[in-house]
Amino acid sequence: MRLTERPRRLRRDGLRDLVAETTLRPADLIAPVFVDATADERVPIESMPGHERVPVDEAAARVREITDTGVEAVILFGIPESKDPEGSRGWADDGVVQRATRAVAAETDATVVTDVCLCEYTDHGHCGAIEETAASDPTLTVRNDRTLELLRRTAVSQAEAGADVVAPSSMTDGMVAAIREGLDEAGHEDVAVLSYAAKYESAFYGPFRDAADGAPAFGDRRHYQMDPANGREARREVRLDADQGADVLMVKPAMPYLDVVRQTREAVDRPVAAYQVSGEYAMLHAAADRGLLELDAVALESLLAIRRAGADLILTYFAETVAPRL
Ligand code: PBG
Repeated sequence: MRLTERPRRLRRDGLRDLVAETTLRPADLIAPVFVDATADERVPIESMPGHERVPVDEAAARVREITDTGVEAVILFGIPESKDPEGSRGWADDGVVQRATRAVAAETDATVVTDVCLCEYTDHGHCGAIEETAASDPTLTVRNDRTLELLRRTAVSQAEAGADVVAPSSMTDGMVAAIREGLDEAGHEDVAVLSYAAKYESAFYGPFRDAADGAPAFGDRRHYQMDPANGREARREVRLDADQGADVLMVKPAMPYLDVVRQTREAVDRPVAAYQVSGEYAMLHAAADRGLLELDAVALESLLAIRRAGADLILTYFAETVAPRL
């Protein structure tokens, strides 16, 4: 028999790389960093092996460990010294993320992304201001338009501290427009907005909520984050954020939502990001700990798959460990 097509020819060493369609570089990755205003030494995060909460005065040192691996960008999350109903430590000039941003901007070359959300700062743990009676009636939820004002303040204060990119993650309708307007009015036209455009109400965020102490005190986030059942709706969310001026559009989580990453890639002409979230990281670690998977291999493969699906950049807890092997 004469075969006319032999795809295996191109799989030989020496040819494989020449025809590889997808690449993964340290510069494609953003590493999450947790800064804790209540800590005076580094505290390991149980649910996320290899990650820790660092005190503010170690933020720059922590970021330098990351940039030494070749990763050039970090996203900062803060654990504040105190919480209140509206999350006012989120936009305080001397807030944990603002202080850390100043230090990292002054002492490192890293590109600083800041997460713009209030769940780490509110005493109820929701991503914005809530109705006063919400605790007794879980069908009541975050007050959208009041929250816009708080998000705008938070983003502007992060920009004042030196953030290069702000990343709103609260799934508040209109958040990108409110933040873009606030940044422009304050003279921060050059600060980019990376929007968590299609962020699902996902059980894969569990370990993060331990790490950042941001679990809701009652109810859940299904009245503002997206229903995992919906793909078409993601197209709408992405379009809305693009129309409001988002510079980069993100899908989150990543692995269980690669279809959404792909459709976002095809729908917009802007960079697409994907967030490989805490639960995705934790499950690969847990399987590796039991000897069921080889960690380095599955970490790399998962990131390559996210790139192949269409993500230009990836937020991942593997950034630091994978980068030196690329
Ligand atoms: C803040 C925020 C969350 C994550 C990123 N920003 C938590 C949430 O929405 O519950 C999750 C990241 C992860 O799981 O790694 N809203």
